[in-house]
Amino acid sequence: MPQAHSFSLYMERYRQQLDRQLDSVLPSDSQVSPLLMEAMRYSVFNGGKRVRPVLAYAACEAVGGHSHQATPAACAVELMHAYSLVHDDLPAMDDDDLRRGKPTCHKAYDEATAILVGDALQSLAFEVLSNDSLYPASIEAKTRLQLVSTLSQASGLSGMAGGQAMDQLSTGIKLDQAGLELMHFHKTGALIRASVRMGALCHYEVTEQQLEQLDHYAKAIGLAFQVQDDILDVTADTKTLGKTQGADIALDKPTYVSLMGLNQAKALASELHTTAIHALEGFTESAKPLRQLADFIIQRNY
Ligand code: IPE
Ligand code: IPE
Ligand code: MG
Ligand code: MG
Ligand code: MG
Repeated sequence: MPQAHSFSLYMERYRQQLDRQLDSVLPSDSQVSPLLMEAMRYSVFNGGKRVRPVLAYAACEAVGGHSHQATPAACAVELMHAYSLVHDDLPAMDDDDLRRGKPTCHKAYDEATAILVGDALQSLAFEVLSNDSLYPASIEAKTRLQLVSTLSQASGLSGMAGGQAMDQLSTGIKLDQAGLELMHFHKTGALIRASVRMGALCHYEVTEQQLEQLDHYAKAIGLAFQVQDDILDVTADTKTLGKTQGADIALDKPTYVSLMGLNQAKALASELHTTAIHALEGFTESAKPLRQLADFIIQRNY
């Protein structure tokens, strides 16, 4: 079977696995607020690529585990990511109308609901990690704490939220390459790095050396992911992208394309890809999906 074909089947299988798990974790009825519950589901089941959870499954497999072991990590990172997108689209932030080809949460519902959806999805992410009746067995309490700690660091001031704050302050300002790297590393890289680490931690036999190597891989693809996101804002069309093309330019956001031009940004993505692949040296066939995910991250067109 051609490699690209078997990889898209791999992605599809894990997307379905994740969606089944998320479906069982997201509330399906609520006496307190059926509206909030519905808006949470709307914001999670709206066609995301699911790159972060697939990274968690693949990292678990790379260190010798079974993908099922990584389910809590996979669900938690996608819930956190979905929350970050709902808030990112709010009028106070990027003010976007379209997400994953559908009206953004605050357009489909309203702003207050969108803020609460973010709050509730974030809480649910930590519940999934800490409540062992949701996913019993296999993961020890000590590991669950490591998962909680990894995700909280990646999402707060020293991670995604800090990067988003930097993004807000940088609108209309020219950042230099170091500044841009710092911003992207936090707003996008941190959660991608956490996805890989958390997936690997879910396998009880993971070693420190494996975690360290995987972290080099994740740092590189985390940055490459946002470089490609910046590129797609310029090169992709709205329909393929599922979000409004040119949104960064319209808001005068500092991006890799605005800093160094399209060709240099593409060259940087490719350099980061090479770094990521080198970081996996010594891993066997079990890391093949991680290698293919690195390819996907810089080749994707949405
Ligand atoms: C978009 O992430 C936001 C960034 C961090 C760049 P994705 O491109 O993973 O979005 P979905 O989940 O596939 O919609
Ligand atoms: C968002 O970056 C990163 C997040 C933490 C959500 P962008 O603002 O570039 O993401 P898109 O392009 O709206 O998906
Ligand atoms: Mg943004
Ligand atoms: Mg945005
Ligand atoms: Mg973007």
